[in-house]
Amino acid sequence: MCMYRFLALFAIVSALPALVVCDGRLLELTPEAYADSMSVDAILGHLKAFQKYADTSANTRTHGSPGYNASADYVYGIAANAGLDVQRQGVESPVGFIRRGTLSVEGITFQAPNVTVDFFTSSTAPEGLTTDLVSIPGYGCSQDEFANVANKTVLLKSGECATAEKTFNALISSVPAVIIYDETPIPAVPGAGVFATASQNIAVPVVLLARYDVGQILLTKIASQSLTATVNVQVDIRNVSSDNIIAQTKWGDQDKVIMIGAHLDSVAQGPGINDNGSGSATLAELVQQLAQFEAAKYALRFGWWSSEELGLLGSAYYVDQLTQSERDRIVGYINIDMSASPNYILAVQDNDNSGGGRPPWIPAPPVGSNAIEKILQDVFLSMGSNFTGFDIAMNSDHASFMANGIPMGALETGAGGPKTELEAELFGGVVGQNYDSCYHSLCDDINNLSHEALIINARAVARALATLANDISTIEAEQAQASSGAKVQFKGASHPMSDLGRHAH
Ligand SMILES: *[C@@H]1O[C@H](CO)[C@@H](O)[C@H](O)[C@H]1NC(C)=O
Ligand SMILES: *[C@@H]1O[C@H](CO)[C@@H](O)[C@H](O)[C@H]1NC(C)=O
Ligand SMILES: *[C@@H]1O[C@H](CO)[C@@H](O)[C@H](O)[C@H]1NC(C)=O
Ligand SMILES: *[C@@H]1O[C@H](CO)[C@@H](O)[C@H](O)[C@H]1NC(C)=O
Ligand SMILES: *[C@@H]1O[C@H](CO)[C@@H](O)[C@H](O)[C@H]1NC(C)=O
Ligand SMILES: *[C@@H]1O[C@H](CO)[C@@H](O)[C@H](O)[C@H]1NC(C)=O
Ligand SMILES: *[C@@H]1O[C@H](CO)[C@@H](O)[C@H](O)[C@H]1NC(C)=O
Ligand SMILES: [Zn+2]
Repeated sequence: MCMYRFLALFAIVSALPALVVCDGRLLELTPEAYADSMSVDAILGHLKAFQKYADTSANTRTHGSPGYNASADYVYGIAANAGLDVQRQGVESPVGFIRRGTLSVEGITFQAPNVTVDFFTSSTAPEGLTTDLVSIPGYGCSQDEFANVANKTVLLKSGECATAEKTFNALISSVPAVIIYDETPIPAVPGAGVFATASQNIAVPVVLLARYDVGQILLTKIASQSLTATVNVQVDIRNVSSDNIIAQTKWGDQDKVIMIGAHLDSVAQGPGINDNGSGSATLAELVQQLAQFEAAKYALRFGWWSSEELGLLGSAYYVDQLTQSERDRIVGYINIDMSASPNYILAVQDNDNSGGGRPPWIPAPPVGSNAIEKILQDVFLSMGSNFTGFDIAMNSDHASFMANGIPMGALETGAGGPKTELEAELFGGVVGQNYDSCYHSLCDDINNLSHEALIINARAVARALATLANDISTIEAEQAQASSGAKVQFKGASHPMSDLGRHAH
């Protein structure tokens, strides 16, 4: 018979669920038991709290907003109640507030929501940047496409590869500005372009995102005459403060830590309930349920990051502030960003590049990352779930861990891209419809979530954490193999690849 033990009520959490403790004993932290402790209702409970904070905060939980701070207090309380050591880490982040983002052609000026400013952009001169406007037929995913367009503003299609890749190709081709238009009509992103990343001293091209109809208008004009365009982007940079929340088990080897993180902030233009309230809520539930388990071999550390949507600033600051020996104590890091996309896929980051899609400008991930990819794949296999891979990119909070030599892995359920036929065979859902039609917009709310994806991912992550909390041998073996000079063998299962969709952070 099991007895119920109630946790003390935490001020912010009105009704914490009862913990089930059999004969007063704690359960062994096995992958199955930890996965079984996850429930949709409990994770939705955390998401409802985030939604409530967004509702009372102009519909956003962006860095520095009251909605963010309330979310941070909430997860702090959960972790403290579950008996973990919890810390707040203030992050002072330069935030770009977009004052203006316009495109003028022949006396017509387009602005939000028809034309919006992308996250990674720089300001133009106050009077704007006036150049010839030309189009290229493709997506701008290869440098060749920019061969004859130096010093011009270039119109190209969204999709096929990340915005960062298009921008990089433009940059090395001396293209000062790109306008990326939607290939098909998709709903406007209300309010987009309010905040941007402060450009980090990199002269990135000016990047505007244009809606389908704007793209068609411009293409028609370009077809009949030569055009000049003026793009004008003005970003004010101000420092804004908010906290990362970091919690660690008191048990387990404190020198060999398994870490998992999710970003707690939303974009400015929506409540961010899938992106990444879903990851943060899953972490909250993983922490809350830990209280019923006994100690495992290695410590678990949870990170809720601020300022992901502003350019991964919270996690970057965290990793930056660690000493090298503190970094060395992190055996591996798992990132969970969106985990409940309505038209979901289950995708594991392709660390071993078995899909061959790692862009040339992204270095091979730290040794040990292939073993983490394999653990995440094995988890889906053991749950009888299909999975795909997605190309490694520096577009979420794993990037700073990766850049600092810490083995890492990541899961995703898809952002703004459309589902393929193969993906529909693997996961169900609707071919041609975006994974998350509400990505980075106002309808990314509590109603537009896949409960199925939410729980599959929560259980997958629980299994991976419980596995690693007891056994890090595959990561260590990969490292030992590499340091002996042998070719690293840890290839994961063969898997199809998914394209998660445009600006996938
Ligand atoms: C949010 O928290 C940060 C850091 O603790 C603080 O500096 C800021 O003033 C708070 N903002 C609001 C809107 O409460
Ligand atoms: C731009 O958006 C406005 C609504 O804000 C709409 O009325 C207008 O037709 C749009 N123009 C174009 C060219 O898309
Ligand atoms: C682009 O502009 C730069 C600087 O004004 C100039 O040096 C270069 O020759 C131009 N390139 C082309 C292809 O016009
Ligand atoms: C933001 O803070 C940093 C360090 O805390 C400082 O160096 C920088 O000048 C500040 N930037 C602005 C725009 O205030
Ligand atoms: C988490 O949610 C945010 C939205 O709040 C989303 O942008 C992000 O991609 C998700 N990812 C992670 C790692 O948390
Ligand atoms: C996995 O994919 C196959 C098609 O390759 C499909 O028949 C099967 O139903 C899928 N399994 C699940 C659990 O969705
Ligand atoms: C979001 O959820 C609401 C309520 O269920 C629904 O009416 C709406 O169509 C959904 N939005 C999208 C884009 O799926
Ligand atoms: Zn792979």
